[in-house]
Amino acid sequence: MDAVQSLDEAIESASTAVESADDLEQLAAVETSLLGPDSVVGVVRKSMGRLDPQERPKVGAKLNEASVAIGGLLDSRRSVLEVEEESRRLADEKIDVTLESITIPSGVKHLVQKVIDDTVDIFVGLGYQVASGPEAELAFYNFDALNTPPDHPSRWDSDTMYLDFGDPGDEVLLRTQTSPVQARWMESHDPPVYIVVPGRTYRKDTIDATHLPVFHQIEGLAVDSNLQFSDLKGTLLHWAREFFGPQSEVRLRPHFFPFTEPSAELDVSCFSCDGGQPGCRVCGGAGWLELLGCGMVDPFVLETAGYDPYEVSGFAFGMGPERLAMVRYGIDSMKHFIENDVRFLRQFG
Ligand code: DAH
Repeated sequence: MDAVQSLDEAIESASTAVESADDLEQLAAVETSLLGPDSVVGVVRKSMGRLDPQERPKVGAKLNEASVAIGGLLDSRRSVLEVEEESRRLADEKIDVTLESITIPSGVKHLVQKVIDDTVDIFVGLGYQVASGPEAELAFYNFDALNTPPDHPSRWDSDTMYLDFGDPGDEVLLRTQTSPVQARWMESHDPPVYIVVPGRTYRKDTIDATHLPVFHQIEGLAVDSNLQFSDLKGTLLHWAREFFGPQSEVRLRPHFFPFTEPSAELDVSCFSCDGGQPGCRVCGGAGWLELLGCGMVDPFVLETAGYDPYEVSGFAFGMGPERLAMVRYGIDSMKHFIENDVRFLRQFG
Protein backbone atom coordinates (compact mmCIF):
# COMPACT_ATOMS: atom_id res chain seq x y z
CA MET A 1 0.00 0.00 0.00
CA ASP A 2 1.46 3.36 -0.87
CA ALA A 3 1.84 6.23 1.55
CA VAL A 4 -0.97 8.33 0.14
CA GLN A 5 -3.41 5.47 0.43
CA SER A 6 -2.35 4.76 4.01
CA LEU A 7 -2.79 8.38 4.91
CA ASP A 8 -6.27 8.46 3.34
CA GLU A 9 -7.24 5.46 5.42
CA ALA A 10 -5.77 7.05 8.50
CA ILE A 11 -7.87 10.19 7.87
CA GLU A 12 -10.97 8.08 7.35
CA SER A 13 -10.62 5.94 10.45
CA ALA A 14 -9.51 8.88 12.65
CA SER A 15 -12.93 10.21 13.46
CA THR A 16 -14.12 6.88 14.97
CA ALA A 17 -11.00 6.71 17.15
CA VAL A 18 -11.35 10.33 18.26
CA GLU A 19 -15.03 9.96 19.09
CA SER A 20 -14.32 6.85 21.16
CA ALA A 21 -12.27 8.91 23.70
CA ASP A 22 -14.48 9.51 26.75
CA ASP A 23 -12.17 11.81 28.63
CA LEU A 24 -9.08 13.97 28.10
CA GLU A 25 -6.75 11.20 29.23
CA GLN A 26 -8.10 8.78 26.65
CA LEU A 27 -7.98 11.54 24.04
CA ALA A 28 -4.27 12.05 24.72
CA ALA A 29 -3.69 8.32 24.05
CA VAL A 30 -5.71 8.53 20.83
CA GLU A 31 -3.65 11.54 19.76
CA THR A 32 -0.42 9.56 20.22
CA SER A 33 -1.80 6.68 18.19
CA LEU A 34 -2.91 8.99 15.36
CA LEU A 35 -0.11 11.52 15.19
CA GLY A 36 2.70 10.08 17.36
CA PRO A 37 6.04 8.67 15.99
CA ASP A 38 4.59 5.16 15.55
CA SER A 39 1.36 6.31 13.86
CA VAL A 40 0.82 6.16 10.10
CA VAL A 41 1.35 9.91 9.93
CA GLY A 42 4.52 9.65 12.04
CA VAL A 43 5.96 6.82 10.01
CA VAL A 44 5.26 8.51 6.66
CA ARG A 45 6.79 11.75 7.96
CA LYS A 46 9.96 9.90 8.95
CA SER A 47 10.13 8.21 5.51
CA MET A 48 9.85 11.45 3.52
CA GLY A 49 13.61 11.76 3.10
CA ARG A 50 13.85 8.36 1.56
CA LEU A 51 11.07 8.93 -1.00
CA ASP A 52 11.46 9.24 -4.69
CA PRO A 53 11.69 13.01 -5.36
CA GLN A 54 8.77 12.80 -7.76
CA GLU A 55 6.58 11.21 -5.13
CA ARG A 56 7.50 13.71 -2.42
CA PRO A 57 5.17 16.67 -3.20
CA LYS A 58 2.13 14.39 -3.49
CA VAL A 59 2.90 12.53 -0.27
CA GLY A 60 3.88 15.78 1.45
CA ALA A 61 0.56 17.38 0.53
CA LYS A 62 -1.36 14.34 1.78
CA LEU A 63 0.70 14.27 4.95
CA ASN A 64 -0.20 17.88 5.57
CA GLU A 65 -3.86 17.18 4.82
CA ALA A 66 -3.84 14.26 7.25
CA SER A 67 -2.18 16.30 10.05
CA VAL A 68 -4.63 19.16 9.64
CA ALA A 69 -7.67 16.89 9.38
CA ILE A 70 -6.76 14.66 12.31
CA GLY A 71 -5.56 17.66 14.38
CA GLY A 72 -8.92 19.38 13.74
CA LEU A 73 -10.84 16.30 14.86
CA LEU A 74 -8.76 16.08 18.04
CA ASP A 75 -9.22 19.80 18.81
CA SER A 76 -12.98 19.75 18.50
CA ARG A 77 -13.27 16.55 20.57
CA ARG A 78 -10.99 18.16 23.17
CA SER A 79 -13.22 21.20 23.57
CA VAL A 80 -16.26 18.99 24.05
CA LEU A 81 -14.48 16.88 26.66
CA GLU A 82 -13.16 19.95 28.47
CA VAL A 83 -16.65 21.36 28.88
CA GLU A 84 -17.89 17.98 30.11
CA GLU A 85 -15.05 17.69 32.59
CA GLU A 86 -15.63 21.21 33.93
CA SER A 87 -19.30 20.54 34.55
CA ARG A 88 -18.45 17.22 36.21
CA ARG A 89 -16.00 19.02 38.53
CA LEU A 90 -18.55 21.70 39.38
CA ALA A 91 -21.13 19.05 40.17
CA ASP A 92 -18.67 17.25 42.45
CA GLU A 93 -17.76 20.44 44.30
CA LYS A 94 -21.31 21.68 44.65
CA ILE A 95 -22.02 23.16 48.08
CA ASP A 96 -25.42 22.57 49.56
CA VAL A 97 -26.31 26.02 50.80
CA THR A 98 -29.48 24.70 52.38
CA LEU A 99 -27.42 22.84 55.00
CA GLU A 100 -27.68 24.43 58.42
CA SER A 101 -24.44 26.21 59.31
CA ILE A 102 -22.61 25.76 62.56
CA THR A 103 -23.78 28.57 64.81
CA ILE A 104 -21.24 29.99 67.19
CA PRO A 105 -23.21 31.17 70.18
CA SER A 106 -22.40 34.73 71.15
CA GLY A 107 -22.99 35.80 74.72
CA VAL A 108 -24.88 38.82 75.93
CA LYS A 109 -23.98 41.31 78.59
CA HIS A 110 -25.30 40.50 82.02
CA LEU A 111 -28.13 42.84 82.89
CA VAL A 112 -26.29 44.25 85.91
CA GLN A 113 -23.26 44.97 83.73
CA LYS A 114 -25.50 46.67 81.18
CA VAL A 115 -26.96 48.96 83.84
CA ILE A 116 -23.45 49.75 85.10
CA ASP A 117 -22.20 50.49 81.58
CA ASP A 118 -25.20 52.65 80.71
CA THR A 119 -24.87 54.67 83.91
CA VAL A 120 -21.11 55.08 83.64
CA ASP A 121 -21.58 56.24 80.02
CA ILE A 122 -24.02 58.92 81.12
CA PHE A 123 -21.58 60.32 83.68
CA VAL A 124 -18.60 60.04 81.34
CA GLY A 125 -20.73 62.15 78.98
CA LEU A 126 -20.82 64.79 81.71
CA GLY A 127 -17.03 64.73 82.03
CA TYR A 128 -16.71 62.34 84.97
CA GLN A 129 -13.72 60.00 85.26
CA VAL A 130 -14.11 56.32 86.13
CA ALA A 131 -12.33 55.36 89.36
CA SER A 132 -11.92 52.14 91.30
CA GLY A 133 -10.64 50.92 94.64
CA PRO A 134 -9.87 47.68 96.48
CA GLU A 135 -12.63 45.27 97.45
CA ALA A 136 -10.60 44.16 100.50
CA GLU A 137 -10.62 47.49 102.25
CA LEU A 138 -9.35 49.02 105.44
CA ALA A 139 -12.02 49.83 108.00
CA PHE A 140 -10.51 53.29 108.02
CA TYR A 141 -11.65 54.05 104.46
CA ASN A 142 -14.87 52.08 104.63
CA PHE A 143 -16.01 53.73 107.88
CA ASP A 144 -13.75 56.20 109.73
CA ALA A 145 -12.83 58.44 106.82
CA LEU A 146 -16.52 58.54 106.00
CA ASN A 147 -17.50 59.89 109.40
CA THR A 148 -18.98 56.62 110.62
CA PRO A 149 -18.71 56.47 114.44
CA PRO A 150 -16.92 53.49 116.05
CA ASP A 151 -20.16 52.13 117.51
CA HIS A 152 -22.22 52.38 114.32
CA PRO A 153 -24.19 49.14 113.78
CA SER A 154 -23.04 48.83 110.18
CA ARG A 155 -19.56 48.06 111.56
CA TRP A 156 -20.80 45.07 113.51
CA ASP A 157 -19.51 41.65 112.70
CA SER A 158 -23.11 40.66 112.00
CA ASP A 159 -23.32 43.12 109.08
CA THR A 160 -19.82 43.31 107.68
CA MET A 161 -17.50 40.56 106.46
CA TYR A 162 -14.13 41.05 108.16
CA LEU A 163 -11.01 39.47 106.73
CA ASP A 164 -8.74 40.57 109.57
CA PHE A 165 -9.92 42.22 112.78
CA GLY A 166 -6.55 43.84 113.51
CA ASP A 167 -6.43 46.96 115.62
CA PRO A 168 -9.39 49.29 115.47
CA GLY A 169 -8.84 51.44 112.40
CA ASP A 170 -6.70 49.03 110.43
CA GLU A 171 -9.06 46.12 110.34
CA VAL A 172 -9.44 44.65 106.85
CA LEU A 173 -12.92 43.95 105.57
CA LEU A 174 -14.78 43.33 102.32
CA ARG A 175 -16.04 46.80 101.52
CA THR A 176 -19.71 47.26 102.26
CA GLN A 177 -20.03 50.19 99.85
CA THR A 178 -18.10 51.92 97.07
CA SER A 179 -17.97 55.11 99.19
CA PRO A 180 -14.42 54.43 100.51
CA VAL A 181 -13.15 55.25 97.01
CA GLN A 182 -14.31 58.83 97.69
CA ALA A 183 -11.75 59.12 100.48
CA ARG A 184 -9.02 57.29 98.58
CA TRP A 185 -9.44 59.41 95.47
CA MET A 186 -9.46 62.74 97.35
CA GLU A 187 -6.37 61.72 99.30
CA SER A 188 -4.41 61.30 96.08
CA HIS A 189 -5.99 63.89 93.75
CA ASP A 190 -6.47 67.64 93.98
CA PRO A 191 -9.88 69.14 93.33
CA PRO A 192 -11.85 69.48 91.14
CA VAL A 193 -13.11 65.91 91.37
CA TYR A 194 -15.75 64.35 89.14
CA ILE A 195 -15.68 60.57 89.44
CA VAL A 196 -17.98 57.56 89.11
CA VAL A 197 -16.98 54.34 90.81
CA PRO A 198 -18.67 51.14 89.70
CA GLY A 199 -17.71 48.13 91.79
CA ARG A 200 -18.53 45.03 93.80
CA THR A 201 -19.58 45.29 97.44
CA TYR A 202 -20.26 42.79 100.23
CA ARG A 203 -22.57 42.50 103.23
CA LYS A 204 -23.62 39.71 105.54
CA ASP A 205 -27.08 39.50 104.04
CA THR A 206 -29.09 36.37 103.37
CA ILE A 207 -30.15 35.99 99.75
CA ASP A 208 -33.73 37.04 99.15
CA ALA A 209 -35.66 39.01 96.53
CA THR A 210 -33.99 42.30 97.43
CA HIS A 211 -30.68 41.27 99.03
CA LEU A 212 -27.49 39.59 97.86
CA PRO A 213 -24.37 39.20 100.00
CA VAL A 214 -22.30 40.15 96.96
CA PHE A 215 -23.78 42.99 94.96
CA HIS A 216 -22.75 46.16 93.13
CA GLN A 217 -22.77 49.86 93.67
CA ILE A 218 -22.02 52.88 91.56
CA GLU A 219 -20.63 55.74 93.57
CA GLY A 220 -20.51 59.31 92.35
CA LEU A 221 -18.46 62.16 93.77
CA ALA A 222 -18.14 65.76 92.63
CA VAL A 223 -15.98 68.28 94.50
CA ASP A 224 -15.35 71.75 93.16
CA SER A 225 -15.50 75.35 94.26
CA ASN A 226 -19.04 76.28 95.15
CA LEU A 227 -20.98 73.12 94.29
CA GLN A 228 -24.51 73.31 95.65
CA PHE A 229 -27.45 71.07 96.38
CA SER A 230 -29.05 72.24 93.12
CA ASP A 231 -26.03 70.85 91.25
CA LEU A 232 -26.65 67.47 92.85
CA LYS A 233 -30.30 67.53 91.92
CA GLY A 234 -29.65 68.73 88.36
CA THR A 235 -27.01 66.06 87.82
CA LEU A 236 -29.23 63.24 89.05
CA LEU A 237 -32.18 64.56 87.05
CA HIS A 238 -30.02 64.44 83.94
CA TRP A 239 -28.98 60.87 84.75
CA ALA A 240 -32.61 59.82 85.42
CA ARG A 241 -33.81 61.24 82.10
CA GLU A 242 -31.02 59.55 80.18
CA PHE A 243 -31.51 56.26 82.02
CA PHE A 244 -35.31 56.00 82.30
CA GLY A 245 -36.50 58.39 79.60
CA PRO A 246 -36.87 62.13 78.99
CA GLN A 247 -40.20 62.40 80.80
CA SER A 248 -38.65 61.45 84.16
CA GLU A 249 -38.92 63.73 87.20
CA VAL A 250 -36.98 63.36 90.44
CA ARG A 251 -37.73 64.18 94.05
CA LEU A 252 -35.48 64.22 97.08
CA ARG A 253 -36.57 63.05 100.52
CA PRO A 254 -34.53 63.86 103.64
CA HIS A 255 -32.49 60.92 104.88
CA PHE A 256 -29.34 60.24 106.87
CA PHE A 257 -25.90 59.07 105.83
CA PRO A 258 -22.84 59.67 108.03
CA PHE A 259 -20.77 61.07 105.18
CA THR A 260 -23.23 63.58 103.71
CA GLU A 261 -24.96 66.58 105.23
CA PRO A 262 -27.68 67.16 104.28
CA SER A 263 -28.47 63.68 103.01
CA ALA A 264 -31.35 62.57 100.85
CA GLU A 265 -32.90 59.70 99.03
CA LEU A 266 -33.74 60.21 95.39
CA ASP A 267 -36.99 58.99 93.90
CA VAL A 268 -37.72 58.96 90.17
CA SER A 269 -41.24 59.32 88.79
CA CYS A 270 -42.57 55.96 87.63
CA PHE A 271 -41.72 55.57 83.94
CA SER A 272 -44.41 52.95 83.52
CA CYS A 273 -47.59 54.64 84.76
CA ASP A 274 -46.28 58.19 84.68
CA GLY A 275 -47.54 59.32 88.03
CA GLY A 276 -49.39 56.87 90.19
CA GLN A 277 -51.87 54.58 88.54
CA PRO A 278 -53.45 52.29 91.15
CA GLY A 279 -51.91 48.81 90.96
CA CYS A 280 -49.10 49.85 88.58
CA ARG A 281 -46.83 46.86 88.01
CA VAL A 282 -43.68 48.94 88.49
CA CYS A 283 -44.41 51.42 91.32
CA GLY A 284 -47.41 49.70 92.93
CA GLY A 285 -49.39 52.90 92.52
CA ALA A 286 -47.05 55.18 94.46
CA GLY A 287 -46.00 57.05 91.33
CA TRP A 288 -42.40 57.21 92.56
CA LEU A 289 -39.53 54.73 92.63
CA GLU A 290 -37.01 54.87 95.48
CA LEU A 291 -33.63 54.65 93.85
CA LEU A 292 -30.54 55.88 95.62
CA GLY A 293 -28.83 57.76 98.44
CA CYS A 294 -27.10 61.09 98.01
CA GLY A 295 -26.17 64.34 99.70
CA MET A 296 -23.65 67.12 100.11
CA VAL A 297 -20.27 65.76 101.19
CA ASP A 298 -19.84 66.29 104.94
CA PRO A 299 -17.04 68.83 105.68
CA PHE A 300 -15.47 66.22 107.97
CA VAL A 301 -14.99 63.88 104.99
CA LEU A 302 -13.40 66.64 102.90
CA GLU A 303 -11.11 67.61 105.75
CA THR A 304 -10.05 64.02 106.55
CA ALA A 305 -9.07 63.60 102.90
CA GLY A 306 -6.96 66.77 103.07
CA TYR A 307 -9.33 69.22 101.38
CA ASP A 308 -10.29 72.60 102.83
CA PRO A 309 -14.08 72.60 103.32
CA TYR A 310 -14.02 76.41 103.21
CA GLU A 311 -12.50 76.29 99.73
CA VAL A 312 -14.43 73.46 98.13
CA SER A 313 -17.76 71.73 98.47
CA GLY A 314 -19.15 68.59 96.91
CA PHE A 315 -21.96 66.18 96.44
CA ALA A 316 -22.03 62.40 96.37
CA PHE A 317 -24.42 59.64 95.52
CA GLY A 318 -24.53 55.86 95.62
CA MET A 319 -26.79 53.61 93.62
CA GLY A 320 -27.32 49.87 93.34
CA PRO A 321 -27.27 48.51 89.77
CA GLU A 322 -29.20 45.39 90.84
CA ARG A 323 -32.02 47.59 92.12
CA LEU A 324 -31.84 49.78 88.99
CA ALA A 325 -32.03 46.71 86.76
CA MET A 326 -35.05 45.39 88.69
CA VAL A 327 -36.87 48.68 88.31
CA ARG A 328 -35.94 49.29 84.70
CA TYR A 329 -36.75 45.79 83.44
CA GLY A 330 -39.54 44.83 85.83
CA ILE A 331 -37.64 42.00 87.51
CA ASP A 332 -39.16 40.70 90.72
CA SER A 333 -36.15 39.16 92.43
CA MET A 334 -32.40 39.73 92.62
CA LYS A 335 -31.96 35.96 92.69
CA HIS A 336 -32.36 35.93 88.89
CA PHE A 337 -29.11 37.83 88.58
CA ILE A 338 -27.02 35.07 90.15
CA GLU A 339 -28.81 31.92 89.03
CA ASN A 340 -27.08 31.92 85.64
CA ASP A 341 -30.19 30.73 83.86
CA VAL A 342 -29.33 31.61 80.28
CA ARG A 343 -33.03 31.80 79.39
CA PHE A 344 -33.31 34.72 81.77
CA LEU A 345 -30.10 36.39 80.63
CA ARG A 346 -30.84 36.00 76.91
CA GLN A 347 -34.07 37.97 77.11
CA PHE A 348 -32.06 41.12 77.49
CA GLY A 349 -29.45 40.44 74.80
N1 DAH B 1 -22.90 54.11 100.59
C1 DAH B 1 -24.32 54.23 100.76
C2 DAH B 1 -24.92 52.85 101.02
O1 DAH B 1 -24.27 51.89 100.76
C3 DAH B 1 -24.96 54.84 99.54
C4 DAH B 1 -24.66 56.29 99.46
C5 DAH B 1 -25.51 57.19 100.04
C6 DAH B 1 -23.53 56.74 98.84
C7 DAH B 1 -25.26 58.54 99.99
C8 DAH B 1 -23.26 58.09 98.77
C9 DAH B 1 -24.15 58.99 99.35
O2 DAH B 1 -22.19 58.59 98.18
O3 DAH B 1 -23.88 60.31 99.30
O4 DAH B 1 -26.02 52.77 101.46
